[in-house]
Amino acid sequence: MKRAAVAGLLALSLFRAGPLAAQSDPLAPIGRWSAYTRGAAQLPPMGWNSWNAFALDISEAKLIGSARIIVSSGLAAKGYRYIDLDEGWWARRAADGRMVIRADKFPSARLPDGRTSFRPLTDKLHGMGLKAGIYSDIGRNSCGQIHSDDIPNKPSGTLLEREVGLYGHVDQDIALYFGEWGFDLIKVDGCGIRGLWPESPKVLSGEFRALTPLVDSGSLGRTDIAATRALYDHVRQALERNNPDNDFIFSLCLWGAADVRSWARQMAGISRTSEDIFPIWGRMLHNMDTSIRRPLYAHPGSWNDPDMLYIGTGDFDAKHLTEARSHFSLWAMLNAPLMIGYDLRSADPALMEILGKREVIALNQDPAGNQAVLAYDSDDVSILVKALANGDKAIAVLNRTSDPVTASLTAGHLKFASDADVSLTHLWSGTHATLRDLAVPRYRQARSARWPLPLGNAGQREPRGRRSRRSRGRPARAPRHPALGGHAHLARAAALRRLGWRTGRQHSLFGADRHCREALRYRHRHPCQFPDRSAQQGLFPFQCAGRRR
Ligand code: GLA
Repeated sequence: MKRAAVAGLLALSLFRAGPLAAQSDPLAPIGRWSAYTRGAAQLPPMGWNSWNAFALDISEAKLIGSARIIVSSGLAAKGYRYIDLDEGWWARRAADGRMVIRADKFPSARLPDGRTSFRPLTDKLHGMGLKAGIYSDIGRNSCGQIHSDDIPNKPSGTLLEREVGLYGHVDQDIALYFGEWGFDLIKVDGCGIRGLWPESPKVLSGEFRALTPLVDSGSLGRTDIAATRALYDHVRQALERNNPDNDFIFSLCLWGAADVRSWARQMAGISRTSEDIFPIWGRMLHNMDTSIRRPLYAHPGSWNDPDMLYIGTGDFDAKHLTEARSHFSLWAMLNAPLMIGYDLRSADPALMEILGKREVIALNQDPAGNQAVLAYDSDDVSILVKALANGDKAIAVLNRTSDPVTASLTAGHLKFASDADVSLTHLWSGTHATLRDLAVPRYRQARSARWPLPLGNAGQREPRGRRSRRSRGRPARAPRHPALGGHAHLARAAALRRLGWRTGRQHSLFGADRHCREALRYRHRHPCQFPDRSAQQGLFPFQCAGRRR
């Protein structure tokens, strides 16, 4: 190891001292990337948001109930600090413009003078060691008002009283929410500037005033990017004015429209990259895809937001722990905000364990702040690689489909020295393995450097032909490898490069036949039930530690 290290250092010194070093390098990068430096989003924010759990049917009891569990379960100590109140809190805008809270749902908001204030609620959350978040819209009206008909907790009153969004009230509202009420985060939606064109049904019926749309989610050409950006920038200015201590987060919710990728990073701590997530596997993938293709827009201070977690519901409930782990792992790899969207008062312990998985949270909160990038992508398989602060790499190999797929995971995907040994840490099980342990000798002579890595899944059925051929006669001889008992592994790659390892021949991280046998055995033991699919998808992220023998 010592010799390799010396060789690496020498190579580096020679390069530095060489004649070319003094000349200007025509390929040297000249661009400078800047990200938003104000605000408290140096790391992706973590917490809980009411929307995916309760939608508009939110109340103080529900919110505080989940907040208490965040603290008592130890999730707060692991970083979940923001308790965000989404839509459903406002009653109306008073004649003087001050927002009135639904005190029937938030009893602590009722003040002796008849007004309402969220100060008691934020004081309570702060007293629990938590942060408080609130919700608004950049237009006059909200998503719930515009897109739903018979909704609970609707703002009521005259047309003007029902205009609860920030439009025309930015300075007043931000001063109220942050200066007086003490919130630490605001999520600002954009429905009010896209859904109220003059001929829209709710304008024609007289329910709301028209506001010429600035945003057309389907067309940048029909979007007024500059005007949209100016509205959100006004919020940024008000936030900075009202939060001189910088302890605030601006959560920009424009679903990837209005070219928001190019300007959100200059004003917001997090910015949504897609429409709403649903508790459906395919939709989760869709939201992931919108963020994974935007790694350049994620930096400490400003992060891509593929929307809140849906762990606990639908395809990610306690009966679908593989999917729940996959969803959580992907969000960690993306440096996405980890905002729980579940009624924690009824959370299954297995789900709490997923949400509290330290090793996976650590990926998300890695100080380098590098969002994972796609090392490989197809309709079936995506391989995500994320460079960590200590030089290690995290890898997620994702089977996107409901069928078994074969993937090749190579050293090349990791920018790894291919003839080096690699040790793997399985993040969900904590078990270790080395590349050499797992490689199967006969595959070393394979004609291609890329060896097949079959990606099965717990409980998933293989196509009949392949399955019967493999199972015929021979029971699995190799001991079941612990790294196959779960769904996450990670790669430490940079250590190898630091030591000056050569690149060349590529290794697969798993020998194919052992993986097949183990996957098959696992499947037999864990048949899985899917209400709406015959099989299930899965995620296999890796952690590998580069180490020399
Ligand atoms: C939009 C947002 C959601 C949620 C709802 C509330 O759809 O994208 O996250 O805040 O509005 O109505």
